[in-house]
Amino acid sequence: MKIVNDQPESAAVCEPQEPTEGNLFVSAYPPFSCWKPEFVPGIDQALRTVSANQQDVPLGLYVHIPFCLQRCEFCYYRSFADPAADTIDSYLNALINEIRIYGELPRIAGRPLAFAYFGGGTPSILSAGQLQRLFQGIQSTFPSTDIQEVTFECSPKTATRERLEKLRQVGVTRISMGIQQLNDDVLRQSGRVHLVEDVKRAYAEIRRCDFDVVNVDLMVGLVGETEESFQNSLDEVIAMTPDSITFYQLEIPANTPLFRALHNNEVAAPVGWDVKRVRLADAFTTLETNGYTLRSAYAAVRDPARHRFLYQELQYRGADLVGTGLASFSYAAGTHYQNVGSLREYHERLAANRLPYNRGYVLSPADQAVREFVLQLKLGKVEASYFTDKFGISIGEQFAAPLQRFSEAGWLAVDESIVTLTRQGLLRVDRMLPEFYLPQHQDVSYW
Ligand SMILES: C[S@@+](CC[C@H](N)C(=O)[O-])C[C@H]1O[C@@H](n2cnc3c(N)ncnc32)[C@H](O)[C@@H]1O
Ligand code: SF4
Repeated sequence: MKIVNDQPESAAVCEPQEPTEGNLFVSAYPPFSCWKPEFVPGIDQALRTVSANQQDVPLGLYVHIPFCLQRCEFCYYRSFADPAADTIDSYLNALINEIRIYGELPRIAGRPLAFAYFGGGTPSILSAGQLQRLFQGIQSTFPSTDIQEVTFECSPKTATRERLEKLRQVGVTRISMGIQQLNDDVLRQSGRVHLVEDVKRAYAEIRRCDFDVVNVDLMVGLVGETEESFQNSLDEVIAMTPDSITFYQLEIPANTPLFRALHNNEVAAPVGWDVKRVRLADAFTTLETNGYTLRSAYAAVRDPARHRFLYQELQYRGADLVGTGLASFSYAAGTHYQNVGSLREYHERLAANRLPYNRGYVLSPADQAVREFVLQLKLGKVEASYFTDKFGISIGEQFAAPLQRFSEAGWLAVDESIVTLTRQGLLRVDRMLPEFYLPQHQDVSYW
């Protein structure tokens, strides 16, 4: 496999269309629109079957908490604002039941968890007592204490001392806080419930609790953001010395308040993809100057050996991920599937002790190879030998055409053993990935 790139970086070679609206971020393959109810019996079957090598496949747990203090203008995640305490309590009952049911499935039973991730919504909206109950429920299903990484998302307003101490006590190793930006005007225009002073307080409390890894999320391209406000935010964040900084380029899917506000001309259009990429490229350079290393297309870390992110690394190499909670998606036994998005239906299913997924896709070995290839590209490097050993394919041959095109554009480099994204490639990786899909999954919609 040898593709020579003798051209300078040139976006013009194959820059695809860049609509301002919609989703780009690839989190699964094939795209969600290919997941159908008719695959559910095949998924039931796969989860009820013990496979010879399942003990060798790492197992992860995702737990979705679909509640926030307030909805942000840009957010497309499944979440409800300002829930009553008993709404959360009854959700936790269903969630713990869902986790218990998984623990009895032949594909899952007796396997230790390698990693867990609590996302949302805002998981840190749970009280210390609710956190205790949730972790007890998980522990009674997965009693092993060998778990290597437990990530918990929190927001600045809800990151209180009492909750953080409880999180440390129940075994959380990695805290991820959504800062988005350190500018009160930009935060207000995005409908964030926090201001800069909340971030400063929360960050100090998080550091006090001595978690193994502290990640903060920043967004690029928010409404009201200027080059200066973004740069100042970044400088202030660097001064806080988080272990990891994850960047999200703003997406504007149709289910967001921002999408509707833009269509009603109620808000000035945020900057386009070209500007977001320039801001992010500059941010990566600034971070490298300050001792950070790029770990993926999205994140920079202070110490790549210590500040790992197993949730991503293991998932991208075919780990089983059991997704629990409203609208969560899973990847297990070579199948992808997703839970119902209606809270009422979620409760009804679990009241009847039935797992609440209602659509999915059974991946062929060829689908699995593409899935892992595109996900691993997001980390910036893909080793050819991994795919020869695991799937018996040559990625140089299978993906010859897109590799050639993207190499000519200066977005990646290919040699005998490895595909490496260039900086320009990292900045637009999610836009490139669909070109590696199998023909039947190209040109399909995202959802
Ligand atoms: C579930 S939230 C993180 C935890 C918490 N709810 C918070 O916002 O602080 C995950 C991340 O998704 C990102 N995100 C949400 N909506 C987005 C959008 N429209 N485009 C890009 N990133 C988005 C934000 O950076 C956010 O921190
Ligand atoms: S970005 Fe976070 S806090 Fe805002 S609505 Fe989405 S999940 Fe909730």
